[in-house]
Amino acid sequence: MTSLSFSKILKFPCTRRNSEQHSLWTLVIILMLVLLREADSEVLCPEGCLCYRWTPTILCAYTHLHQLPKGIQFWYTHLDVTHDNISVLYENELKLAGLLHLRTLKIVSSHLTALQDRVFSGVTNLTLLNLTNNALHTLNSGAFCGLESLRKLDLSKNRINSIHQDAFCALSTLQVLSLDENKLSTLEFGTFQGLTNLTVLSLRNNIIEAFSDRVFEDLHNVVFLDLTGNHIKLLDAEYLFQGMKNLLILYLIDNNLTCDCGLKDTWLWFASHNVGNIATCASPTELSGQSWVVLNHTVCSVSDPVLAVGIGSVSVYVLLAVLVLEIMLAVIMYIYHKKYPTESQSESIALHVMSGSSSEGIHNPES
Ligand SMILES: *[C@@H]1O[C@H](CO)[C@@H](O)[C@H](O)[C@H]1NC(C)=O
Ligand SMILES: *[C@@H]1O[C@H](CO)[C@@H](O)[C@H](O)[C@H]1NC(C)=O
Ligand SMILES: *[C@@H]1O[C@H](CO)[C@@H](O)[C@H](O)[C@H]1NC(C)=O
Ligand SMILES: *[C@@H]1O[C@H](CO)[C@@H](O)[C@H](O)[C@H]1NC(C)=O
Ligand SMILES: *[C@@H]1O[C@H](CO)[C@@H](O)[C@H](O)[C@H]1NC(C)=O
Ligand SMILES: *[C@@H]1O[C@H](CO)[C@@H](O)[C@H](O)[C@H]1NC(C)=O
Repeated sequence: MTSLSFSKILKFPCTRRNSEQHSLWTLVIILMLVLLREADSEVLCPEGCLCYRWTPTILCAYTHLHQLPKGIQFWYTHLDVTHDNISVLYENELKLAGLLHLRTLKIVSSHLTALQDRVFSGVTNLTLLNLTNNALHTLNSGAFCGLESLRKLDLSKNRINSIHQDAFCALSTLQVLSLDENKLSTLEFGTFQGLTNLTVLSLRNNIIEAFSDRVFEDLHNVVFLDLTGNHIKLLDAEYLFQGMKNLLILYLIDNNLTCDCGLKDTWLWFASHNVGNIATCASPTELSGQSWVVLNHTVCSVSDPVLAVGIGSVSVYVLLAVLVLEIMLAVIMYIYHKKYPTESQSESIALHVMSGSSSEGIHNPES
C-alpha cells in the first residue's frame, strides 16, 4: 500500500501547477501519515523497551531482561540491550528470537557469562557486535561463526582468559577487534587465524606475558596494534611481526620490558621497518619509565652479548682499564724509584708518562 503511494508521488513532479494533481498530492500525504500512525500503534515494542522507528533502534535498558526480546519487526535493525541480566546466549538464540535481520547488536553491562556454539549463525548482515562490560571468560571455537558481514567486534571489559583456536571463525570482513581489559595471559597460535582484513587490534590492559610463534601470522592488514598495559618482558619482533606487513603503529607502553641487549634487536627491527612505536622500559631500575629509545645508545658486543650488559657499561670498562694501567704504572714507578732513589729527573719523567697515558685512555675510548 505504501509503496504504491510512493510510486504515485514519483510520477507527479512538484513543478506542475495543476490544482487537481496538487490536491491529490495532499491527499496522498495525509493518507500516508494516517497509515504510518496506524502502523505505529500496531507495533509491539517489547515490554520496558523503547522503540525508535526512524533510527531504527530498539533500546532495552534496565528492563531485567533474561533473554533477547523476541519477534521485533524487521525494520528495527539496531538492538541495544544494556544493564540487563542476560547471563547466557544460547545456541541459535538470535534465529529463534527472529533477530536475523539485525545490523548492529549491543549487549552491554548485562552480566553475560557465556556464549554457546552457533549463537550467531545466520545473522549475516550484522556489522557491529558490542559485548563490552560483561563477564565472558572463555571464547569457544567457532563462537562468532556466521557473522559474515561483521566489521567491528568489541569484547573489552570482560574476564576473557581463554580464546580457543578459531573462535573468531576466520571472519574475513572483520576490521576492528578490541579485547581491552580482559585477563589474557598468553596468545595461542591460531587465535587470530584468518582475520585477513583486520586493521585495528587492541589488547590493552591484559596480563599478556608471552605470544606463541606466528600468532599474528594472518594479520597482513593490521595497521595499529595496541599492547599497552601488559606484562611483556621481551619479544622477538622479527619472528612475531613478520606477517604484519602493513603495521604502522605499535604501542607497548606500561609493560615489563627489560631494556638491555636482549631487546635491542627488536628495537632495531622497528626502527628499520618504519613502524611508529611507543614503548617504555620497566627495568633496569635506572631506566624505569623511560622510552625504549635509550636502546639506541646501548652498545652490545656481537660476540659476547652477556658481557656488555646495560647502558653505560662501555664507559665502565674504559675506566677499569685506565685504573689497571695506572696501578701498573705506579708499581713500575715504585720499582724504578727504589732502584734509583736520588734521580729527580726520572721521577718527573715517570709522572709525565702516567698523566699522559691516563688522559689518552679517557679521550680515546673507542680504540
Ligand atoms: C540474573 O539472572 C540469574 C539467573 O539467570 C539470577 O540468578 C541472578 O540473581 C540475576 N541477577 C540480577 C542482578 O538480577
Ligand atoms: C541482509 O540485507 C540484504 C540487503 O539489504 C537483504 O536482502 C537480506 O534479506 C538481509 N538478510 C537478512 C538475514 O535479513
Ligand atoms: C561499545 O559500547 C560501549 C558502551 O556503550 C562504548 O563505549 C563503545 O565505544 C562501544 N564500542 C564500539 C566498537 O562501538
Ligand atoms: C576488507 O576491507 C576493505 C576496506 O578496508 C573492503 O573494501 C573489503 O571489501 C574488505 N574485504 C572483505 C573480504 O571483507
Ligand atoms: C610486571 O610488572 C608488574 C608491576 O609493574 C608486576 O606486578 C608483575 O609481577 C610483573 N610481571 C612479570 C611477569 O614480571
Ligand atoms: C639512533 O642513533 C643514531 C646515531 O646516534 C641516530 O642517527 C638516530 O637518529 C637514532 N635513532 C633514534 C630513533 O633516535
